[in-house]
Amino acid sequence: MQKLELTLAIIKPHAVSNPVVRTFIRNILKNKFIVVKTKRVTLDTDTACKFYEEHAGKFFFKRLTTFMTSGCIDLHVLGHVNAIQMWRQCLGPTSVYKGQFQDPYCLRGMFGISDTRNVAHGSDSQDSAEREIKFFFPEFSFYQWRIDDEEWFR
Ligand code: PPS
Repeated sequence: MQKLELTLAIIKPHAVSNPVVRTFIRNILKNKFIVVKTKRVTLDTDTACKFYEEHAGKFFFKRLTTFMTSGCIDLHVLGHVNAIQMWRQCLGPTSVYKGQFQDPYCLRGMFGISDTRNVAHGSDSQDSAEREIKFFFPEFSFYQWRIDDEEWFR
């Protein structure tokens, strides 16, 4: 049986504040994924630094955390077989410049402005998906989800 996988998508502030980009993304999510949970939040600096702690010390850390606290972000827990790779494929490469060359129709290729303002985030592995979903949705039950997941495929 194919297993459903979960991933966390974070729509970044410049994309949330742009109705065209927001609608475009909403259509992708609606048509390609099961949207399991959604919420809109504004991060404070401490929360942004904690979420991105693996990048602490990198030259772009301050730029990234400052940007991520500059407006609302949309959080989506997405489910699908192979959801992590699928969402990252929709996004394209972290580098907007690379995206524009490799796949001009990926979200970052179309709507990305820079390596920080690159439209959205996607978990990069099952472990990080689990950590990131728990970070923003501490009440989320992975156990219950697995049961529902099996029901879904019956
Ligand atoms: S990824 O997608 O997590 O594998 O990408 P990664 O390269 O690890 O990047 C992690 C986040 O850091 C941001 N980033 C940058 N910001 C500014 N300048 C540069 N050069 C740069 N490189 C990476 C990038 O937007 C990623 O943010 P998230 O929110 O994780 O997508």
